[in-house]
Amino acid sequence: KEIVVSGIRSTGYLHLGNYFGAIRNFLRMQEDFNCYFFVADWHSLTTHPDPKDLRGNVYRVLAENIASGLDPEKCVLYAQSDLPEIAELYLLLNMLAYMGELEKVPTFKDKVRLNPNNVNAGLLTYPVLMSADILIHRAVKVPVGKDQEQHLEMCRHYAQRFNSRYGELFPEPVAFNYGDNLVKIPSLDGSGKMSKSENEMSTLYLADSDDQIRKKVMKAKTDSGPTEPGTPMPDYIENLFLLMKLVSAPDTVKFFEGAYNGASIRYGDMKKQMGEDMVNFIAPIREKAKSIQEDSAYLQKVLKEGAEKARESANKTIREARKLIGIHYY
Ligand code: TYM
Repeated sequence: KEIVVSGIRSTGYLHLGNYFGAIRNFLRMQEDFNCYFFVADWHSLTTHPDPKDLRGNVYRVLAENIASGLDPEKCVLYAQSDLPEIAELYLLLNMLAYMGELEKVPTFKDKVRLNPNNVNAGLLTYPVLMSADILIHRAVKVPVGKDQEQHLEMCRHYAQRFNSRYGELFPEPVAFNYGDNLVKIPSLDGSGKMSKSENEMSTLYLADSDDQIRKKVMKAKTDSGPTEPGTPMPDYIENLFLLMKLVSAPDTVKFFEGAYNGASIRYGDMKKQMGEDMVNFIAPIREKAKSIQEDSAYLQKVLKEGAEKARESANKTIREARKLIGIHYY
């Protein structure tokens, strides 16, 4: 079976972008592949260093993944920081990563722009740590959203450089989505992608209450509607349809698309329907996640057993890497 790795940072509540960009793929992949899914707690320290939040955030991400349908019996679930092998591989890969390349990464430049007072080296080498996460299990497929595409390209470079300098060890992993194109879930304000740092009102969280969901959807950006049949859709309306397609029945979507094309659409009705469909989608996950999160004994058991299995695989890789580099002295 092919090896799959993916991670989610523990930086707060998960949102629909995480669900439809990543988790939806995890659910299917756990049936077909040899999967390692983890909470990227080290990565979260680059921007969220507060010790009082960390444990709760890790438990929450784990609980939300399990509530979404990830099954610890079908995939290996663990915390990144439980694998010291990742830190060692990260150190080794740093010698193959060039400053110039790292400084040019758009996600790094975004972080610098958003928070110029905390440009730490962990942010700069974020893609190197991410590559270590992936290569430590010698994964070939990495289910992620569109925003991670470039990090995967860098991961392939590091794998190539390692292989040609020291000898063949790593496959070159690719970013993966069932349905081919990587996904970018838009935010409700019609611009950009849904994200944790965005304006709260334009991001739908898996933890939102029914009323919050309805309110946010009703506030999504629209206009007074097309006045002539066949008017091309503005981006923010296209995005609204894209969001609707995630949760509403195909007939419902067709109905409103027809109304748009006939210039008779009422966005209020569309958003009302979409709000209800969102509630029906999110509420069961939210309730399940809540009860799982309260069961810390269960979560600890999942993390411990997952770490054990993941370390077995990680240890094999790091031993091979040391051997190829020549780190064996007695
Ligand atoms: P993170 O925690 O920001 O997001 C987790 C996953 O959700 C996807 N995602 C989206 N997909 C589509 N549309 C959106 N609006 C959207 N927002 C988030 C992300 O693409 C990601 O798949 N660097 C990673 C975590 C990571 C990782 C790894 C991933 C660390 N090591 C190794 C894969 C393999 C990140 O920041 O994800």
